Amino acid sequence: MIKWYNNSIILYMKKLFRDREYEVYNMIYRLPNVNDKDMLHEYIQEHYDNGETSISASLELATSEYGEWVEKIHRNALVGDEIWGKSLLYLCIDEGKLIGLLNIRYELPKYLAEKYGHIGYGVRPSERKKGYATTMLRHALSVCKEKGITQVILGCYKDNLASAATIKKNGGVLIAETKNEGKVSQYYIVKL
Ligand SMILES: CC(C)(COP(=O)(O)OP(=O)(O)OC[C@H]1O[C@@H](n2cnc3c(N)ncnc32)[C@H](O)[C@@H]1OP(=O)(O)O)[C@@H](O)C(=O)NCCC(=O)NCCS
Repeated sequence: MIKWYNNSIILYMKKLFRDREYEVYNMIYRLPNVNDKDMLHEYIQEHYDNGETSISASLELATSEYGEWVEKIHRNALVGDEIWGKSLLYLCIDEGKLIGLLNIRYELPKYLAEKYGHIGYGVRPSERKKGYATTMLRHALSVCKEKGITQVILGCYKDNLASAATIKKNGGVLIAETKNEGKVSQYYIVKL
């Protein structure tokens, strides 16, 4: 009965938001485990097939031994690190398919947040431009709020129009621009 009620609400929300040209996804966000190796390998391969060499928010997955990588992610979530604090690396899954990766660095000291931003994300090439990153960032902001952050800093390269649009759609306000080795980075703040 409760499940039916929840599903009805989700369907209603989907319709409501689709009418406004937004999509609402009922995604699952969870830490990776040892059984996710094939799914993640396929995710990486899709990027390579698309001519991309770096996998956003993957925390060096492609160059790590898989079991050690999983251990690192769980360690980051449970005990964190003296410099970076605790952080979450979520697999973002919709209807059983790995859609994207989300890295939430909710204990970052201010000087690191101002350089790297609190949140990183990536969506697999075949699932882009469907509203997934917007949904994922919204979820990340809700996690940050739960953790007590009142101002989230987000950074992206100025020429990354997709990321900048994702941030702005989530209430990001441009606060700074820096130039490093010819690349312009932009920094946004979202007040929670
Ligand atoms: C950036 C990225 C995460 C966006 O993911 P996405 O799921 O396609 O984003 P959404 O579908 O939620 O779209 C968000 C906004 O970006 C816009 N957008 C998406 N792709 C775009 C593109 N290639 N150029 C311009 N705008 C784009 C969308 O139109 C939407 O804005 P709108 O609703 O005002 O039209 C995805 O392109 C990606 O994974 N890129 C590689 C990794 C990366 O750059 N990560 C961010 C590092 S800061």
